[in-house]
Amino acid sequence: MLEQKILNIKNTALGEINKALSKEQVFSLRVKYLGRKSEFNNILKNIKSLSPDEKKKIGHLANTAKKEIENEFEKAEKLIKAKSFDHKAEKIDVTIPGKKMKQGHLHPITIVQNEIEDIFSGMGFEIADGPEVETEWYNFDALNIPADHPARDAWDTFWIKPETKNKERLALRPHTSPVQIRYMQKNKPPFRIIVPGKCFRREATDAAHEHTFYQFEALVVGEDINVGHFKYIGEQFFSKFFKKDIKVRLRPSYFPFTEPSFEFDISCTVCGGKKCKSCKGNGWLEIGGCGMVNQKVFEAAGYPKGKYQGFAWGFGLERLAMMKWKIDDIRLFESGDLRFINQF
Ligand code: DAH
Repeated sequence: MLEQKILNIKNTALGEINKALSKEQVFSLRVKYLGRKSEFNNILKNIKSLSPDEKKKIGHLANTAKKEIENEFEKAEKLIKAKSFDHKAEKIDVTIPGKKMKQGHLHPITIVQNEIEDIFSGMGFEIADGPEVETEWYNFDALNIPADHPARDAWDTFWIKPETKNKERLALRPHTSPVQIRYMQKNKPPFRIIVPGKCFRREATDAAHEHTFYQFEALVVGEDINVGHFKYIGEQFFSKFFKKDIKVRLRPSYFPFTEPSFEFDISCTVCGGKKCKSCKGNGWLEIGGCGMVNQKVFEAAGYPKGKYQGFAWGFGLERLAMMKWKIDDIRLFESGDLRFINQF
């Protein structure tokens, strides 16, 4: 009797659920068949008063029937949901402009550095690297700048307190020149390298001076390197960098690590030497220091005295970037000012 009742309820429930067309219909059928006041619930409630044997049999039957009904509800709900999905309202308008993604870009100094590396790689140069925190010996002594030499003032930098008194002093390198020594200790001539990198000085900053800046060192060593090679390489590089014919001029100067030493000038990138506002009516622009490597520097690196000759220079990357893009204040590079940076 009870068994038949349960099966009947199940069958009519499944039939009706199957025909349900809306969420609301499903809901009321749920109340009707599984709700607290439903016939089915009534049967379930009364199972506990049956004999143990019957309890088992009817209990099992009721549970499977309930599960079947539940499944049917789930199926119906899913179907109704899928059918009621309004494809027209969900239409995708492919003509709406997309959201622009913010994309970063290289810093102007990095752009210039990459360009320099490209040009020198093309001329068979290797790109070398060295530490920014450097020992006193590499920064100065090995470059023929002893502790009591007045030239040290020109490279005044930031010193790092040594952990113990007898440990060698470290400083933020004031130029890329110490990498000359590091490279020569590990390599035998002939070679040609450039060393682009960050440098630091204890500067009172102004439009032309920064405490943090970039240089690129060049070092070419062999048994017969002379000033002629040096002028030619310089001319080639600057002509490629500024994409026009550039002339080069050397003026006598002094650096402890070169002998003889020069100041390196190029013909004005704007007027080509005819004299204009950019070169202050001079026709030439100052680039930086250079010279033939002092034999004392070779000795410090462990080379035999007098065997090799070489040339070296140390030029500022900011100076080249400023000339290329006509920037009038070096402080802009490290300012983090997006109005400046986003122009590149
Ligand atoms: N290290 C020098 C400076 O920072 C620049 C320099 C001058 C580098 C002459 C050289 C050189 O290699 O030969 O002022």
